[in-house]
Amino acid sequence: MSEPLNETTIALVKATAPAIQQHGLAITQRMYERLFVNEDVKAMFDQAAQQSGEQPKRLAAAILAYAQNIDKLEALTAPVMRMAARHVETGVKPEHYPLVAEALLPAIRDVLKDAATDEILAAWGKAYWFLADILIGKEAGLYAEIEAR
Ligand code: HEM
Repeated sequence: MSEPLNETTIALVKATAPAIQQHGLAITQRMYERLFVNEDVKAMFDQAAQQSGEQPKRLAAAILAYAQNIDKLEALTAPVMRMAARHVETGVKPEHYPLVAEALLPAIRDVLKDAATDEILAAWGKAYWFLADILIGKEAGLYAEIEAR
């Protein structure tokens, strides 16, 4: 499990919420471009939901909600459970999470450019892994339930 996020990280991530609100879709579209260089990962996604922009929009909304609620994560319990359920349906495993981190963080830099300082990117890196660990934990529980059936 990752350590709790410290005050500085929380403040840095929260401060980027307006930029994420404005540029979230560009960031997630860029993230998927980077992620889909890996054909095996690309095959996990519904390409119709990519082309219609549905999935990039869902991810942008999730990232924005996370930035806005990072100091009150209990507000995200229901959306986190929905994400975990969808991830289990599509076979997402812990080993996929570094691939998304390696696509998302550079995508934030690509879109926000110099506004995404090293400090901001480091804060988002920590915040990503904090959420990733929560999802990985919920997904492990769901996979175990399926196994037990
Ligand atoms: C912290 C990291 C992540 C976040 C915040 C996140 C967020 C989301 C959200 C919001 C959805 C839409 C759920 C819905 O249908 O309502 C989703 C779906 C999905 N995610 Fe993630 N995700 C993360 C990591 C990953 C990873 C590591 C993978 C593996 C490559 C992945 C693969 C998928 C797939 C395949 C779907 C279904 C998309 C489709 O229907 O085409 N996600 N995720």
